[in-house]
Amino acid sequence: MTDHSTRKRRIVVLISGGGSNLQSFIDACADGTLNADVVAVISNKAGVKGLERAANVGIPNIILDHNSFESRAEFDQSLGDVIESFSPDLIILAGFMRILTPQFVNRFIGQLMNIHPSLLPKYPGLHTHQRAIDAGDSEAGATVHFVTAELDGGPAIVQAQVPVLKNDSADALATRVLEFEHQIYPLAAEWFCQGRIELRDGDVLFDNQLLPVEGVNIEIHEKT
Ligand code: GRF
Repeated sequence: MTDHSTRKRRIVVLISGGGSNLQSFIDACADGTLNADVVAVISNKAGVKGLERAANVGIPNIILDHNSFESRAEFDQSLGDVIESFSPDLIILAGFMRILTPQFVNRFIGQLMNIHPSLLPKYPGLHTHQRAIDAGDSEAGATVHFVTAELDGGPAIVQAQVPVLKNDSADALATRVLEFEHQIYPLAAEWFCQGRIELRDGDVLFDNQLLPVEGVNIEIHEKT
């Protein structure tokens, strides 16, 4: 009989681009810090590096081009069907640049996570790093959150704070924030796989305790 507490969880990753966060999942599964397998990678764009990263390690990689669908609803229906065919426990949005319909979100509610490159609720949407610099913020960062029907609006699981340096460019800041993204995203997934976090009635519970708005309070250090 399968022991549900130790069974490897099944993760499907959705991408649209380079897939450096996907790579952090592949690496964490390989080194055992994440007790899971990435069982499929789905991209809405052909020719992106993330697909290559999946192919390199023999993970099924699928292109589902949103342009070949009549409507957002039809794309989301097909996307959901493909995802479901892999029976995932968790679905990871990793630079997936599509707005998802409430129907899709509700189909997988509680199993969908996203990473957003800002300290949500600050700066939902695009150009987050430039916006943080323009506002004169001393800190930027990234947030892993459960996905709800509101864009970048779901409750936070964990954040990484990254100082904004004098004369920072958006690109330089983005590169530094990404390093932290690669740590907090697989970590949040591992908590999920261990059954430590769950979305309940729009809130996140961690070890059955309601999390504050910024998520789990941990210190993350830059990798040396
Ligand atoms: C990351 O900055 C992530 O926060 C955002 O999209 C970017 C994806 O980068 N959602 P990558 O494709 O994982 O390298």
